[in-house]
Amino acid sequence: MRILVLGGTAWLGRAIATAHLAAGHDVTCVARGSDVPHGAALVRVDRDEGATALAREAALEGSWDEVVDVTSVPSHATAAATVLAPRARHWTLVSTISVYRDADRPGADESARILEPSEDPHDYGRAKVRIEEIVRAALGDRLLVVRPGLIVGPGDPTDRYGSWAARAALAGDAPLLVPARDVAAQVIDVRDLAAAIVELGARGVVGVRDAVGPVSTLRSLVDEIRAAAGHAGAVVEATDAELERLDVQPWGGPRSLALWLPPAAAGLGARSNAALLADGVRLRSTAETARDVVVDERARGLDRARASGLTRADEVAVLAALAHDAVDG
Ligand SMILES: NC(=O)c1ccc[n+]([C@@H]2O[C@H](COP(=O)([O-])OP(=O)(O)OC[C@H]3O[C@@H](n4cnc5c(N)ncnc54)[C@H](OP(=O)(O)O)[C@@H]3O)[C@@H](O)[C@H]2O)c1
Repeated sequence: MRILVLGGTAWLGRAIATAHLAAGHDVTCVARGSDVPHGAALVRVDRDEGATALAREAALEGSWDEVVDVTSVPSHATAAATVLAPRARHWTLVSTISVYRDADRPGADESARILEPSEDPHDYGRAKVRIEEIVRAALGDRLLVVRPGLIVGPGDPTDRYGSWAARAALAGDAPLLVPARDVAAQVIDVRDLAAAIVELGARGVVGVRDAVGPVSTLRSLVDEIRAAAGHAGAVVEATDAELERLDVQPWGGPRSLALWLPPAAAGLGARSNAALLADGVRLRSTAETARDVVVDERARGLDRARASGLTRADEVAVLAALAHDAVDG
């Protein structure tokens, strides 16, 4: 199969290109950077330059069995659809569950209401809605829209799930901070997501699929990570009020207890993956992901600077403040 990956230099796009290569396909990637998997051809294009930049590349001529696009920029989708949609047998758009309007509906599926569209790439969920519209208008019934939830696994640049692995490994026999209010959580391993995109594309599956893992809880995921990291210390629970007072953030980013969602966003960790599973997609266990992420985090450096999570030093300071408050009573 002749495969075009619009992207391929970042995390998921690179994993998709790698999985297509492993399936024996010819893979071409389009990006500004150069870090594509060994064996893939690279066409360097700045998609900010629009349709003409894609149209002038001889290497992009001819028909494509599969086009995969990871863009979050509506104008990039317009250019790609204009130039490439007429020559694509099947197209997979990587969207997101952030397109859904309501974050407080556990069990919701692909039929749930979505946001109003926006051309503004900084308005992430709405921009993805607009991209879905653009590509659907061009592709019609040749389009698969994959809407991932939280993607985790080795190499994750967002450091959300990985920050738990690093903290558990660094803590060793010492206490680990966890939120007292547990929340629903679901993760999909980047390798399973990439394999699913390759498999569904090869079979010509169309429509919309939420790409989310099994519904779990943050505490259960953290316990798997602790087991994988050999964390033998206690867990110390902090209430919402304590975490807020100590400037610990939810979900992700600096100073966060990653994956921990406010009550109003409880549905974000509990969407249905029935349609995905009905397609025969296989998902590895979250315990296996935990083991591989701990290995990956150790290799990349437990104490490196991260996009998300509490540093071990911040965690120790928060634990000390909690202990001090408890003594003060
Ligand atoms: N992480 C999560 O938990 C999560 C959850 C839901 C959905 N998603 C979706 O999953 C996908 C993640 O994709 P990803 O990991 O491959 O990362 P990404 O950062 O979304 O990838 C962007 C790709 O597009 C290329 N690109 C960006 N600007 C470009 C330009 N002007 N011209 C040409 N190429 C350009 C980048 O390459 P260069 O920079 O080299 O040009 C890169 O390969 C996205 O669609 C995201 O919305 C992620």
